[in-house]
Amino acid sequence: MVLMLAPRAVGRGCPGKMRVYYGLLVSVILFQCAHARASSLSMAFVYPEARRNESVVDDYHGTKIHDPYRWLEDPDSNETKEFIEAENKITRPYLDACPVKADVNARLTELWNYPKYSCPFRRGDRYFFYKNTGLQNQNVLYVQDSLDGEPRVFLDPNTLSEDGTVALSGSRFTEDGATFAYGLSASGSDWITIHMRDVATGEDYPEVLEKVKFASMSWSKDNKGLFYSRYPEQTGKTDGSETEVNRDQKLCYHRLGSPQADDVIVVEFPEEPLWRIGAEVTDCGRYLIVSPVKDCRDNLLFFADLSKQAEINGKLPLTQLVFKFEADYEYITNEGSVCIFRTNKNAPNYRLIKIDLHNPAEENWETLIPEHPSDVLDWASAVDNDKLVIHYVRDVKSVLQLHSMASGALMQTFDLDVGSVVGFSGKKEQREIFYHFMSFLTPGVIYHVDFTKKPFTPTVFREVEVKGFDASQYEAKQIFYSSKDGTKVPMFIVSKKGLPRDGSNPALVYGYGGFNINIQPSFSVTRLVFMQHFGGVVAIPNIRGGGEYGERWHNAGRLLNKQNVFDDFQAAAEYLIKENYTRPDLITIQGGSNGGLLVAACANQRPDLYGAAIVQVGVLDMLRFHKFTIGHAWVSDYGSADDADQFRNLLAYSPLHNIYTPKEGSPQYPATLVLTADHDDRVVPLHSLKFVAALQHAAGAAPPQTRPLLARVDTKAGHGTGKPTAKIIDEHTDILCFMTQALGLKFVK
Ligand SMILES: *[C@@H]1O[C@H](CO)[C@@H](O)[C@H](O)[C@H]1NC(C)=O
Ligand SMILES: *[C@@H]1O[C@H](CO)[C@@H](O)[C@H](O)[C@H]1NC(C)=O
Ligand SMILES: *[C@@H]1O[C@H](CO)[C@@H](O)[C@H](O)[C@H]1NC(C)=O
Repeated sequence: MVLMLAPRAVGRGCPGKMRVYYGLLVSVILFQCAHARASSLSMAFVYPEARRNESVVDDYHGTKIHDPYRWLEDPDSNETKEFIEAENKITRPYLDACPVKADVNARLTELWNYPKYSCPFRRGDRYFFYKNTGLQNQNVLYVQDSLDGEPRVFLDPNTLSEDGTVALSGSRFTEDGATFAYGLSASGSDWITIHMRDVATGEDYPEVLEKVKFASMSWSKDNKGLFYSRYPEQTGKTDGSETEVNRDQKLCYHRLGSPQADDVIVVEFPEEPLWRIGAEVTDCGRYLIVSPVKDCRDNLLFFADLSKQAEINGKLPLTQLVFKFEADYEYITNEGSVCIFRTNKNAPNYRLIKIDLHNPAEENWETLIPEHPSDVLDWASAVDNDKLVIHYVRDVKSVLQLHSMASGALMQTFDLDVGSVVGFSGKKEQREIFYHFMSFLTPGVIYHVDFTKKPFTPTVFREVEVKGFDASQYEAKQIFYSSKDGTKVPMFIVSKKGLPRDGSNPALVYGYGGFNINIQPSFSVTRLVFMQHFGGVVAIPNIRGGGEYGERWHNAGRLLNKQNVFDDFQAAAEYLIKENYTRPDLITIQGGSNGGLLVAACANQRPDLYGAAIVQVGVLDMLRFHKFTIGHAWVSDYGSADDADQFRNLLAYSPLHNIYTPKEGSPQYPATLVLTADHDDRVVPLHSLKFVAALQHAAGAAPPQTRPLLARVDTKAGHGTGKPTAKIIDEHTDILCFMTQALGLKFVK
């Protein structure tokens, strides 16, 4: 198991958080009647006048909803392209006019330029690790014959495109380490192509597997073939700039060295076109565990006994283990027919259970490690033959433990500072592990534990340093504040030591709040620049909807409870103001994807609390998100407008449907920057485009609205995964410059 900071659910199609740390682990109608507005920094805005088609009206359970910018849902129309161009044309000069842009960019680039490493991991008799020398667009995979051997480049994605926009996305070695299957994604799309490399020669096999997205990859243990999930051929484009719904995923088996056309479908559920099919060959090689998922939580379980197949030539006979979508089940390891799964069935903080494949009725399941009353069992990995490494999240911080696989008993806790385990490598048949620790003020330490030597004492294998960063000048703390309904919510607050608490500091408040995802401490160069050069305070409230306190915390912020997420975020800003860390006109709120929804909803609901809002790749049309690409998978968090109660709930907060026109004497919108990109096929750009058109239309010309309302639409980029370093630095420069311009911040060298 090699773990990087990419929750499984996200990789398989859920909205996903923005990568906040960049260690290792991506017609003619416009312009008529344009009107000018002045910003607080007296820059004139001429917002594009997007055409409104008032005759587009939908009837939701008797309620008529206008959708005047429906035409922006077509990414290929000239009119949409012209709208994007017109938006960039007003945004670019505003950002470029930032007097300290060169300084911000230079400092970001300078601090970014430190080497980043993943945990090493052994496959066959070689070691591998990812490294980025500092500013390389993509991380490079190295191979070495021993841990202290000379590293050689094994795969360098930087050589695959001029501009670094081809990225490695998913990979799997065969059990013998002889073959490497790897996914490549172009321009940030979720679509990948899978390639196979002979590890000894470094040569690729001729075949390329296409139409792959949200795929699990798992080799048969005879090293001969790969189970992977793919979509059928679809008409039109499949480069990530299209919006078609992803349906009819199949699990296929590919025989190494043969063309994809010869692949066989081994599992499909034709009557369930929206299921995504995950699969994992068990550690022993005998079974294939198949785990269909239809949205962003809960899966079914099936298995196939591969030992009963002389050849894999078609559909595998499946035995069903779990019949209802009501909990998560994740295969960890097995001993014979007894498998260990991590589940939240009757255990909102998760537990480990044993299921005997030959006696699988639920009443025969056994608990191996019971649910902890407060700590969340976040992941588990079999190591050193008979042990389990368990990662718990305790009040948002990592706890790493070693347990007995036989009894589940705790053997040892590996001491950690306050922070996060962001990477791990180790396998059942290997006698060592590596884990990667990171925190707000710790750029990265990789530890090694050798199980052949008792006691099991972690040693520092590698520690990275960031030139120009002195951790002793900063402080990070965790506080708990009360939300609207009295719920205690944890929040990290990070800043330079000794900042005056007089309300004069700018603050950057980042949140996500959804999909059972934890926002744990991480190291971020951009935040460092904000703290070091703008005297900024960084605040990260761990609001409901996330997984910080297990399924209960998630449930308290999803479906009809979604408003709690926004209330928690607003209460975080109120706390920071009350405690004199900052004041409203110096607060920037930032979030991506589901967090973009958070930020936009909060700007609509409490514009008085914030000076600026950074809405990245947001889900903003809550009535129609399920109609595009993988949006249908998010109904488990949001519900769907097809249901009357859920429709009313969605309509109450949907950013696109709650935009107001600031009246004389009422608060204006925070300065708003909406970011999206042409190849975002996770949260399609139409959300951002429709939102910004509506926002500019409703608020752009209102007299109180002096702050800018802008969109930045990138090209050859997607939802965030695999984004080249150069593009990330450009984007972060723009965000800091937007804040500087809009809030009147000072950059101090
Ligand atoms: C406006 O929307 C209606 C309803 O979808 C459609 O029939 C019409 O063609 C649209 N008009 C324009 C100018 O796009
Ligand atoms: C779109 O623009 C291109 C290039 O300007 C032009 O050739 C094409 O005819 C336009 N298409 C439509 C449908 O107007
Ligand atoms: C915040 O600052 C103001 C002005 O300096 C002061 O009067 C007030 O007591 C401070 N409040 C807190 C909670 O520190």
